[in-house]
Amino acid sequence: MVTIRRARPSDALAMARVHVAAWRTTYPGILPDAYLAGLSVTQEAAGYQHGLAMGRGGHAGFLAVADGAEAPGGGVVGFVTGGLARRPGIAEGEVETLYLLDDFRERGIGRRLMRAMASHLASLGAASAFAWVLEQNPSRFFYERLGARPAAREEIRFAGAALPQRAYAWEAIHTLLTATAASPRGG
Ligand SMILES: CC(C)(COP(=O)(O)OP(=O)(O)OC[C@H]1O[C@@H](n2cnc3c(N)ncnc32)[C@H](O)[C@@H]1OP(=O)(O)O)[C@@H](O)C(=O)NCCC(=O)NCCS
Repeated sequence: MVTIRRARPSDALAMARVHVAAWRTTYPGILPDAYLAGLSVTQEAAGYQHGLAMGRGGHAGFLAVADGAEAPGGGVVGFVTGGLARRPGIAEGEVETLYLLDDFRERGIGRRLMRAMASHLASLGAASAFAWVLEQNPSRFFYERLGARPAAREEIRFAGAALPQRAYAWEAIHTLLTATAASPRGG
């Protein structure tokens, strides 16, 4: 069974492990191999620990935690973080990160994590929400499936490369709440 719970700063190391594993399966061919090989769990953990401990702009995380029947030893298999938008202009709430280990994708867990984040953003008073996605990342279709629409495009410099990214936005947070509440798989 996979359950969703609020993340604590002490979960940062487990989140960082998922982050690094998910980047290495998601971004080959998009980000330079040397950059992916050099990702550091310790460094990512420090970032997540700091973000959760500070809680700036209502920043919070939600974890997907598998029990031992799902994976040997169980543990954190995915997570989402977000809060009020880090910069103004696109929407009020921001989904900052969303990652699942490979074996746990396409089972409705991403939608369940987004449901937790949508409720959180609504509780912060956000009337709308968005997420940045690299244009070459097929996960943008996941956001479209949950009712988001392309709202902005920009180039970011990342690991020495210029990469286009798009903001996918839910003009009304209710669109996201509704799309994540109605899971055909009952998740
Ligand atoms: C994006 C991600 C979190 C989606 O989670 P998931 O658990 O696989 O998605 P779900 O099973 O909840 O899917 C919800 C719906 O979106 C659809 N969907 C999911 N990923 C999709 C994709 N890449 N393309 C098209 N549709 C997709 C599902 O088929 C499902 O449709 P349904 O409404 O008919 O059931 C996961 O694929 C992932 O971790 N990807 C790698 C990391 C990443 O790119 N994160 C985003 C960074 S911005």
